[in-house]
Amino acid sequence: MSEPQKALIEMKNINLNFGTVKALSDVSVNFYEGELVGLVGDNGAGKTTLIRILSGMYAPTSGEVYFDGQRITRFHPKLAIDLGIETIQQTVGLCDNLSVARNYYLGREPVKRLLGIIPVLDFAQMRAASNKVVHNFGLRDSVNVDDETALLSGGEAQSFKIGRAVDFRNRVIIMDEPTNHLSVRERAHVNDIALQLRDQGLLVIYITHDIFQVHRLADRIVILENGRKVLDIPKAEMPAEELEQIIRDGGHEISKR
Ligand SMILES: Nc1ncnc2c1ncn2[C@@H]1O[C@H](COP(=O)(O)OP(=O)(O)OP(=O)(O)O)[C@@H](O)[C@H]1O
Ligand SMILES: [Mg+2]
Repeated sequence: MSEPQKALIEMKNINLNFGTVKALSDVSVNFYEGELVGLVGDNGAGKTTLIRILSGMYAPTSGEVYFDGQRITRFHPKLAIDLGIETIQQTVGLCDNLSVARNYYLGREPVKRLLGIIPVLDFAQMRAASNKVVHNFGLRDSVNVDDETALLSGGEAQSFKIGRAVDFRNRVIIMDEPTNHLSVRERAHVNDIALQLRDQGLLVIYITHDIFQVHRLADRIVILENGRKVLDIPKAEMPAEELEQIIRDGGHEISKR
């Protein structure tokens, strides 16, 4: 991949404290459109905290974040929608007691006006849009968009969430442990979709504990350890075994790049 010149996301000297816990210490990292970045590190390394800053859930204690060259000064939950950043998590993101069609819009429901005045939910549009994702993202043909999402398999739910994210014209897809508890086939499917999104020019940030899995997918690997960035390297420059050793050994102070 030839690296585009301007970073889509620039994070500079980010510190984030939760009380006395230093979750992130002086992390500087850039992310570019059209790349798949593997964000790895042990439990508690700060991976989820870092990406939650990008979705507006947490404000850094200090440091700067730029999106498309614009400094972000206010961190709030709507930030992600405003910027076009979607985070896919394993366990949240769908309301299982609602239909697939309702889940598609969740909080952004399309409304039409009866007799030109009375606002009502536009179910036809919900069904049409969600049906498209069901068909394009490899869910079973038998999935009915009027069924509750509780009936989807883990992989189907992930594929649906990703499809939905893409349809809303997001520029950044963050996946936080997206294949935990999935079958081998489901995992491969979700990973294929991640690669397709990258190929379509989106920025994909892929968080996982499985360095071998992400090494196959990623263009670049960023390792966090105890809230610090200890490595940021094109994946071609280091085999997965060496990266695993770095994570396993711990105790790193260096920050490359
Ligand atoms: N809301 C919070 N309040 C207090 N401490 C927190 C909070 N969220 C995270 N932390 C702490 O910040 C540090 C980083 O946590 P984080 O969840 O970002 O790690 P992670 O790399 O995503 O780990 P895992 O691989 O287990 O998901 C940990 O020490 C964690 O206990
Ligand atoms: Mg996490």
